[in-house]
Parts: sequence; structure tokens; C-alpha cells
Amino acid sequence: MRELKILGIVFFFSLLTYWGVEPYALSKMEQHVAPANFKFDDLKPINYKGNPNVGRSLTVEKCTGCHSIKVAKITASMPENLAITTFGITPPDLSDAGYLYDAKFLKHFILNPAHTFLTEKKFGPAHIFPMPPYYGTSKNKKQEVSDIVAYLQSIAPKKLTGRKIFISSCERCHSMKYDKLTQLGKLPDFKTKTAKLAFELKLSKYQDHLKKYLGIAPSDLSMIIRAKSHEYLVNFIDNPQKFIKNTSMPRVGLKKENVEKVIKYFEKIGDSKKAQRETLTPKIIGFLIILTLLAYLWKSKLWKDL
Ligand code: HEC
Ligand code: HEC
Repeated sequence: MRELKILGIVFFFSLLTYWGVEPYALSKMEQHVAPANFKFDDLKPINYKGNPNVGRSLTVEKCTGCHSIKVAKITASMPENLAITTFGITPPDLSDAGYLYDAKFLKHFILNPAHTFLTEKKFGPAHIFPMPPYYGTSKNKKQEVSDIVAYLQSIAPKKLTGRKIFISSCERCHSMKYDKLTQLGKLPDFKTKTAKLAFELKLSKYQDHLKKYLGIAPSDLSMIIRAKSHEYLVNFIDNPQKFIKNTSMPRVGLKKENVEKVIKYFEKIGDSKKAQRETLTPKIIGFLIILTLLAYLWKSKLWKDL
């Protein structure tokens, strides 16, 4: 009976560490904040019905100087290289914006970008945020941004994977090495060493500009799921300022379901064996218990006669 007790104790502590202590330690190490509600409560509702046709001409006029819109076959007037050296960052393509971001957030973002990103402290008069606040063509700017958002929603895809969301929303700042994604897109298959070196040089230059723009190099996110809990990531992406005061990581304004999809994608890349491990663990434990019982019965049988 003694052996069984010892075994029981060993099992108990292993399970406690696996399911109890590790998640508990992670949760203790992380700061606690009011949970994200994805309502962007600091921003007032802008309830105008947008007209996508009006929005289209406004967008072409006011936005495509810097942004491309691939689904509408629109290229940005400003060449990408010039944008990078001027702004320190690539202005993202707007094809997916209407799907990715909360509508209220997007309207406010167009009206006042740095304020809505919550990074305006960083971008003072000495360091101007590259995207200008919307100056409009008529008196009613709120109607106009509602038209622009209606247009962006009308061209947006109906569904995007977590990977695509990462590419559209995070990749201009973060790489994902384990999935071969760089800040300049998917890592190509190089035919020659020269092509490889040329790409590396271009990437390295981009990263230098980005670091100068943000004041810090945004980290590769391949393994972030091992370092941070799901709960932390949800709250951090919803509002980075809650955790790192005056950080240059913007509040990007992703809708709730899109934040969940990005985190699923992080899990897939950084901890691809997680699901497998979790279904396998109880099976192995069950197997060991049965084996132990058999061994114990066998032992009792052998010792009975002695
Ligand atoms: C002078 C260049 C310029 C113009 C004009 C401009 N943008 Fe931008 N925009 C940028 C840059 C640069 C960024 C990236 C900034 C960053 O991530 O720090 C950006 C970012 C964005 C984003 C990403 C927001 C997010 O949550 O990640 C959206 C959406 C956007 N712009 C929409 C627009 C729309 C709509 C217009 C027209 C009304 C517009 N922009 C006009 C330069 C510009
Ligand atoms: C305009 C650039 C920019 C964009 C866009 C951006 N980030 Fe960041 N991110 C940063 C910077 C800069 C940091 C480093 C923050 C710091 O330490 O102050 C960071 C840090 C992070 C961290 C690490 C947090 C920690 O506690 O270590 C995570 C996770 C993260 N970003 C996720 C995302 C996701 C997900 C997206 C897309 C939805 C995204 N970021 C888009 C600039 C960006």
C-alpha cells in the first residue's frame, strides 16, 4: 500500500505543477488590469450613415497619396521606398481595414490618428505623426469619415484568417520568423546569394527606419505565446498603454474576434504541439495508472506466499 501512496503523491504534485502552478505563476507575474471590453469607451459614438460611393472618391482623394488599396487596384502615389524613408514605416494597404477594425475606432482614427492610437504623447510637435488628421472637404467631417469607413467596409473581405490579420495589421512593425514573415512580407525563396543579401540589406534598412520612428525595435512574435498568457495578450492588444506606459505600440483597434484569431495564430506558430500535448497527457497518465495497478497486483500475488 505504501508504494501506491507514494505514487499518488508523485502524481498529485506533477499535475499540480502542470495545471496549477505554471498558469498561476504566469498570472502573478503579469500586471492585472480591468479586462478589455473592445468598446473603446473613451471615443464618442459617431452615428452617421455612411455612403460608400461618396466614400470612394474621398478615399481616393485623401488617402491614396500614401496608402495602396489592392482590391480596388489602386496603388499609392508615393513610392514605397520614399514612404519608408519619410515616415519610418510602410503605410498599410487599406483593402482589409473595414474588416479588421472597429468602425467607431476607424472613424476616430481618421479624424485624429495619434490620439486614437493612444501614442500622441510620443508624437508631439517635435515628432509629427506621419498620417495627418483628416481635414475634409466640407464642414461635416464626421459625415465624411463615416462615408470613408462605409467604403472601406464595402470593399473588405468577409473573412480573414489569423495569419492574414497579422499580415494586414501587425506585420509593418513585427516579424514572425517561425512562419517566415518579415516586416517586408513573406521571406522569398532566394535563387542566388546576391538576391538573399540584397533582401537582407533592404530589410535591415527598414528595421533601422522603424526603430528610429518608434524609438524601439518591435520584437519578433514567434514565441510570444510561451512568454505571455492568452488573457494578457487580449488585454495588451486592446490597449498596450495599460501595461507599458507611453509605449509606442499603438492601440490598433482590432475587433474582438480578430484579436482572438491573431492569438490562435500565435498558438499555432509558437506552440504547435499544445493541442496534441493536451490530449496526450491524460492518456499517458491513464496508461501509467493501469500499469501501476497491474504491477501492484502482481507484486501482492508474489509476496502472498512468503
Ligand atoms: C501622409 C500619408 C498618409 C495619409 C495621407 C493617410 N495615411 Fe493612413 N497611415 C499612414 C501611415 C504612415 C500609417 C502607419 C502609422 C503607424 O502604424 O504608426 C497609417 C496608418 C493607417 C491605418 C492603420 C490603422 C491601424 O489601426 O493600424 C489606417 C486604417 C489608415 N492609415 C487609414 C487612412 C485613411 C482612411 C486615410 C485617408 C482619409 C489615410 N490613412 C491617409 C500615412 C497616411
Ligand atoms: C506601429 C508599430 C506596431 C504595430 C502596428 C503593432 N505593434 Fe506590437 N509592438 C510595437 C512596439 C514598439 C512594441 C514594444 C513595446 C514596448 O516595449 O514599449 C510592441 C510590442 C508588442 C507585444 C509585446 C508585449 C510585451 O509585453 O512584451 C505584443 C504581444 C505585440 N506588440 C502584439 C502586436 C499585435 C498582435 C499587433 C497587430 C494586431 C501589433 N503588435 C501591432 C509596435 C507595433
